[in-house]
Amino acid sequence: MQHQVYVMMILQVFILLLLGTASAANISLPGCQDKCGNVSIPYPFGVGAGCYLDAGFEIICDDSYPTPKAFTNGNTQVDEILPDHVRAHYWYISYQCYDETDWTNASTAWFNLTQVPAFRFSDTRNKFTAIGCATLAYIFGNGGRVNGYTSGCLSFCNTPGSATNGSCSGMGCCQTSIPKDLFYFNVSFGGYNHSDVWEFSPCSYGLLVEQDWYNFTASDLSGFDFYHKNNITGFPVVLDWAIRDMSCSEAKLQTGYACRSEKSDCYDSTNGPGYLCKCSGGYEGNPYLEHGCTDIDECRDPDLYPCFGNCTNKPGGYDCKCPPGTQGNATYERCSKIPEKFPLAAKLSVGISAGVIIMLSLSCLLIIKLQKRKYLREKDDYFKQNGGLILYERLRARQVETVRVFTEKELEKVTNNFANERILGAGGRGTVYKGILENSREVAIKRSKEVDESQKDEFVNEIIILSQINHRSIVKLLGCCLEVEVPVLIYEFVPNGTLFDFLHGKNRTSAIPLDIRLEIATDSANALSYLHSSTERSIIHGDVKSLNILLDANYKAKVSDFGASTLVPLDKDQFVMLVQGTRGYLDPECLTTQQLTEKSDVYSFGVVLTELITRKQAIYTDGSNETKCLAFSFVSMMDQGRLRDILDDQIADEGVMELLQEVAELAVRCLSVKREERPTMKEVADGLHVLTRSKHHPWSQKNPEETESLLGEMSTHTTASDSTAYNSMVNRLVLNIDDGR
Ligand SMILES: *[C@@H]1O[C@H](CO)[C@@H](O)[C@H](O)[C@H]1NC(C)=O
Ligand SMILES: *[C@@H]1O[C@H](CO)[C@@H](O)[C@H](O)[C@H]1NC(C)=O
Ligand SMILES: *[C@@H]1O[C@H](CO)[C@@H](O)[C@H](O)[C@H]1NC(C)=O
Repeated sequence: MQHQVYVMMILQVFILLLLGTASAANISLPGCQDKCGNVSIPYPFGVGAGCYLDAGFEIICDDSYPTPKAFTNGNTQVDEILPDHVRAHYWYISYQCYDETDWTNASTAWFNLTQVPAFRFSDTRNKFTAIGCATLAYIFGNGGRVNGYTSGCLSFCNTPGSATNGSCSGMGCCQTSIPKDLFYFNVSFGGYNHSDVWEFSPCSYGLLVEQDWYNFTASDLSGFDFYHKNNITGFPVVLDWAIRDMSCSEAKLQTGYACRSEKSDCYDSTNGPGYLCKCSGGYEGNPYLEHGCTDIDECRDPDLYPCFGNCTNKPGGYDCKCPPGTQGNATYERCSKIPEKFPLAAKLSVGISAGVIIMLSLSCLLIIKLQKRKYLREKDDYFKQNGGLILYERLRARQVETVRVFTEKELEKVTNNFANERILGAGGRGTVYKGILENSREVAIKRSKEVDESQKDEFVNEIIILSQINHRSIVKLLGCCLEVEVPVLIYEFVPNGTLFDFLHGKNRTSAIPLDIRLEIATDSANALSYLHSSTERSIIHGDVKSLNILLDANYKAKVSDFGASTLVPLDKDQFVMLVQGTRGYLDPECLTTQQLTEKSDVYSFGVVLTELITRKQAIYTDGSNETKCLAFSFVSMMDQGRLRDILDDQIADEGVMELLQEVAELAVRCLSVKREERPTMKEVADGLHVLTRSKHHPWSQKNPEETESLLGEMSTHTTASDSTAYNSMVNRLVLNIDDGR
């Protein structure tokens, strides 16, 4: 017990550590120090050789202090490094002090950045500040474009009381801006007569300091306290940095271009020449590092990126949509319900409360009528929206005959108001409910998830296609309902779930006899063959997979889901369309040609057939945890003559290996990369039919070589006309299989 608790705790700590390191993005180069004391050091800044950009970004970390301190190589202490400036720490204040006749002592402070070319004194974040009564302070400066700059700042006051605390506007205190591009300055004072003021303001001070840092108090005028106080603690000066001497347009052509992240942008420095980098919109991190900018997951930070609806993150941004059934601008305000149902009722009810009782009943009648009309109009709108008009047109043109159109009321009754316990399954596209009709017939009701233009077309597509076919191995469409918000389809109920669940689901260890597998394969192949050839115009299923094959009470296959299906146009040459198959089942030629043909279904069926005999999923992980594509690994095993190794152990017993070999070879032909080399669906169906029959015959076990005798024996079990057709079919199959070898 104790041990378990410890192990759990250690695991938790480990997970927390992992999470911690994963979420904190790297800011410095790999293997470099990213902190000095409490100063974070993002690249291009860095400590030690190879860790900084060699253009004035070296940081020297002095750990002789209790909290280590960071310095530039020009010996300026740095308190904080920000995306385009640093906050430096400075101590030296210029001053000049007086007695009744003249000045007594003075000091000229200067600040020099010439050793660190990346820096300039910030013209926007600093103020030159002078303090004193009768003070004329000068700042002299040098810079790239401003050699020999001079500016003054004048402050005076007649009495100690004339200076007001907090205000630095010429009474005891003055402030002025400095120009851009300055990297050296010193401060000195002009001669002024101090005889009137020296008693209450004996000194003048001048310093460049971070704007808003200094808060003037009249007490700073008296004595020498101001100097002492700040000479000990120091004060902040802001330095703008950039990668100097090249604009973005020039730097981009150079090999040393510093904006290394692929999701970064360059911008020109506003203080002195040079450029800086930033992460592109929707990305965050360090633009100076390769892969340094990563996508911001806006959905995790609703305070900064408001979303009142369904938020989905996407690269460089996010989508915020109102949930279905509501409307509005979800990034801006709460979504509101559509449609608002009782606006008129609300208005009228105000009138009624003031009105006469007779009016009440009259209005009630009116309301009911109006609402009914509105409701009908709404239903009509949905009907149109959901492809009702197309269907109506088809009905009129008699392309659709057997579909019953259900009303919304009927649907609610049949599904017990779409109750949860009626849900049969939910997939990416929608939810399937079980319904019970008045005559206690069970039906499956498919409700699309979202109302989206392309899906509506899919639904109508499915209605039109399914309504034209009638085959025992194809799920029957019984009806539809188009007058609700999302279109709904009603099918016959198929009780035993999907082939996928049957093979790979909960009961995957229970044995499935070979007969049943072959029967499922044959029935599905028949259904597809029927689709391809039996109707007036050929229908391509487009998404054949084990998830789309349902099993009825006797485990007979029924092909379903015609959302992706297409009627082949009469003019076959012009047939090009977007393909929407499923990974692992998709005809590889579709990827190059974007063209779906009957042979694409053959390929997908080949995968299903392979699934049936290997009982592996179309995309599966093998023992070594590698993700594999069943179609490819199966063909490759067959090439190596190792069918036995990939077969499902449950069926691979010696007696039927010959038969399984034939089935496998049929599958391999379906999986040919070249379309021309695949058999037609009819050939596949016929082939499977023959093989299924042979399963029930002892010949294959006893004497596999004697094909001749088989044919003789078989024909005795069939009627005369049957047998000729049957013989030619078997011949064709034998020929085909020979071709394949
Ligand atoms: C560094 O951290 C210490 C302790 O958290 C704090 O007292 C100090 O003010 C910080 N120094 C700077 C420069 O941020
Ligand atoms: C102050 O700077 C100016 C301009 O660079 C220079 O000419 C002067 O000598 C400096 N004064 C002192 C005292 O350093
Ligand atoms: C939603 O509101 C935001 C903020 O007012 C605005 O920027 C955005 O363009 C609006 N979106 C739409 C689709 O109207």
